[in-house]
Amino acid sequence: MELKTAIVTGASSGIGLAISKMLSEEGYKVYGIGRVFPERCDFFEKRISLDLRDTDILLAKISEIRRVDLLVNAAGSAYYGLAEFNTPEQIQEMCRVDIEAPLILTSSLIPKLKDTKGMVINIASVTSTRINTHGAVYGALKAGLRSYGRSLYEEVRKTGVRVVTVCPDLTAGTKLYRNADFKPSDDEGCFLLPEDTAECVRAVISMREGAAVTEVEVRPQFNRIEKKK
Ligand SMILES: NC(=O)c1ccc[n+]([C@@H]2O[C@H](COP(=O)([O-])OP(=O)(O)OC[C@H]3O[C@@H](n4cnc5c(N)ncnc54)[C@H](OP(=O)(O)O)[C@@H]3O)[C@@H](O)[C@H]2O)c1
Repeated sequence: MELKTAIVTGASSGIGLAISKMLSEEGYKVYGIGRVFPERCDFFEKRISLDLRDTDILLAKISEIRRVDLLVNAAGSAYYGLAEFNTPEQIQEMCRVDIEAPLILTSSLIPKLKDTKGMVINIASVTSTRINTHGAVYGALKAGLRSYGRSLYEEVRKTGVRVVTVCPDLTAGTKLYRNADFKPSDDEGCFLLPEDTAECVRAVISMREGAAVTEVEVRPQFNRIEKKK
């Protein structure tokens, strides 16, 4: 039997990397997209190094993959602070990575996903349903991604394709907060690990055909951030 194939963006770090590893354990051939991959990650079928903002290169690389059972849009970019002080460059980068790229990738892969009755998993965020002072742009884009997932599922469900929005909360051990002046608290129970979201995705892809999880939030038990020193 032909192996199932997954394309994962954000595969070079954090949550996308943990999901890629889990998928390879589950027997998927994983095509990972990122810019700079860690040295030790031999579980990928192929590492595709590119900037998601280079749309032509992205589409050309993707067109080489014949079969697609699963698309995981996990790449993300975040700049925090009051909206008044977000620069045009920061806003453009977030728009292009957090929403433009997943939408372009998803629409271009829907025909192949229909062939396999496949699945799209968008990694949004708990910010997608909240008011996000100091993270208004990021939260707005994640809300857009969540909304897109809801509509897309209604469009494609009759073809057997499933669309899932996974919304993690504060996750430690990733690079997402590199531009922030805060981070998840180090106290036990105040942060998720990338593997927690990967386990959630494992559960979602294990549902029997005909049953669909469409949205899920993953939260640490406690809610605490701390200022970086
Ligand atoms: N960490 C959290 O608390 C948290 C909470 C909720 C949701 N999320 C979401 O989870 C997803 C993964 O984030 P993470 O926490 O794992 O952060 P991360 O460690 O910073 O990972 C982000 C990934 O996106 C890739 N990426 C960013 N810009 C890119 C670009 N222009 N072209 C290609 N790849 C690009 C990065 O690739 P390179 O490193 O190779 O550039 C990296 O693989 C994101 O969508 C994020 O919004 C995270």
